[in-house]
Amino acid sequence: MSLLEVEGLVKRYPVRQGFLGRAKEWFTAVDDVTFTAERGETVALVGESGAGKSTTGRLVLRLIEPDAGTVRFDGVDVTTLDRAGLRRMRLRMQMIFQDPYSSLDPHLPVGESVAEPLAVHFGMGRTDRLRRTAELLDVVGISSDVAERYPAELSGGQLQRAAIARALTMKPDLIVADEPVAALDVSVRAQVLNLMYDLQAEFGLTYLFITHDLSLVEVIADRAIVMSTGRIVEQGPVASLFAAPREAYTRALLDAIPRPVPLSLRRQPVRPDPEPDLEPALEAAKD
Ligand SMILES: Nc1ncnc2c1ncn2[C@@H]1O[C@H](COP(=O)(O)OP(=O)(O)O)[C@@H](O)[C@H]1O
Ligand SMILES: [Mg+2]
Repeated sequence: MSLLEVEGLVKRYPVRQGFLGRAKEWFTAVDDVTFTAERGETVALVGESGAGKSTTGRLVLRLIEPDAGTVRFDGVDVTTLDRAGLRRMRLRMQMIFQDPYSSLDPHLPVGESVAEPLAVHFGMGRTDRLRRTAELLDVVGISSDVAERYPAELSGGQLQRAAIARALTMKPDLIVADEPVAALDVSVRAQVLNLMYDLQAEFGLTYLFITHDLSLVEVIADRAIVMSTGRIVEQGPVASLFAAPREAYTRALLDAIPRPVPLSLRRQPVRPDPEPDLEPALEAAKD
């Protein structure tokens, strides 16, 4: 059983309000999206801006309600959970955003933001909280003096590290990372990606890595799902997708990558998969 099984997800938004506010036209932001993610794997969700990547990520965590489809996490259908069940499940599924400010309280020292979930969800006392926070900050490479500073005093890279530490407090199995390095300087990007990679190895994390930037996909992901206008265009192991994209859309995305890839990561590019399994995805992508 895959850790994450997404099937037939649909999300529509009203685009024009009709007479007396009745929605007349609908725009389909996510259109019949089906994919899986295995434990410990990084699945990249790629595509141009507006493709429906972030909406898909939010649907997976049920931060928004789908119009159709299911999300099974560790065998449990997240889309039918009640509030209490969802609350418990969410501890195991965390999200990190392009803008780390969105998960850190500007009025709290960073260390306290990181520790907050420990008090809220686990009722952990102050002493234990401080100890666990120090551990987590160490894990993400933030020195303890930084813990006492406020978000406005931190660099982009430090902020994203702190946001990652906060996500880790709940010992999640899945992290949905929505453009986690897009706002960072190029020099800091590789550091944060390396951190994410190390954390994955250490904690067996599964990543749904959302990005518009295919050059990241090559170094961070095992598999990629290419989206365009709400639909999956193509999906498969990154190596085979890069070596032999089947769809013109994927080729166009690949052609847009500046060469050489301006990132040096510890991770070696994945070796070509001996049996690229693109057929089912391509079938599914057809109308
Ligand atoms: N809350 C919303 N209301 C209306 N339209 C939305 C909303 N959220 C996203 N959309 C639209 O859905 C489409 C997909 O958005 P999004 O998932 O953010 O794309 P991506 O992350 O790939 O850039 C876009 O056209 C966007 O304008
Ligand atoms: Mg987005």
